[in-house]
Amino acid sequence: TTKTDFKGKKVLITMGPTQEALDPVRYVSNHSSGKMGLALANAFMSRGADVFVVSGPISLKVNKDNFHWQDVKSAKEMYEASSKIHDQMDICVFAAAVADYAPAEIAPEKIKKSDSTLLLSLVKNVDIAAKLGAEKRPNQVHIGFALETENEAKNAQVKLGKKNFDMIVLNSMKESGAGFQVDTNKVHIFHASGLEVESDVAPKNQIANLIIDQIKNIPVWV
Ligand code: PMT
Repeated sequence: TTKTDFKGKKVLITMGPTQEALDPVRYVSNHSSGKMGLALANAFMSRGADVFVVSGPISLKVNKDNFHWQDVKSAKEMYEASSKIHDQMDICVFAAAVADYAPAEIAPEKIKKSDSTLLLSLVKNVDIAAKLGAEKRPNQVHIGFALETENEAKNAQVKLGKKNFDMIVLNSMKESGAGFQVDTNKVHIFHASGLEVESDVAPKNQIANLIIDQIKNIPVWV
């Protein structure tokens, strides 16, 4: 049976890594594959939502016709694409692994190999979730992720507050079968209301539906 419990809802999903250019041939990035974000996009779609994806560079096979799909590279591009549509959204899920810093300048030509060390100067990127969180309307729902390697629960709860999320999904690098690249995840969900839910290790599409089910426990969700 197909559920249609999110019929007519507009959902923004940021997903994948961002790539921050160093020169015409190199970039700074991370290990996000986009699997968790794509699982969420598919799950929302199959539950009737109108899904808007803003994706960093990924190599997954995707039928983009199922979504309003926008490909981006850098955090700046991801922010611009997301902020343009944010106001129309009912639900935003920030599943992207956005680079926190980018090279201070992009070298116009390939950086030459010369000295034995090379010092890179990085500047802070825009925090997409925090910036859009500050503009969140009372009837909009924002869901964040936290990828942590230490003090997991504490760090996730701090991010929940700072970024004005209604709930945050913690996936720990300490758990096997969770986080980057793998087809499964194990999550600990913290609601702004104080409610907490923990999952077992399960396929990312199952975790996606569990996360979506949790939206019904958010007080503004009527
Ligand atoms: O793509 P996969 O290989 O399937 O892996 C999935 C995942 C591990 C990437 C995903 O489940 C996940 O945890 N994504 C968020 C990773 C992350 O960057 O977490 P963070 O703790 O650094 O950021 C906290 C939140 O703020 C996240 O919702 C993030 O999208 C958002 N953020 C962070 C920095 C920034 N500049 N802008 C943001 O919007």
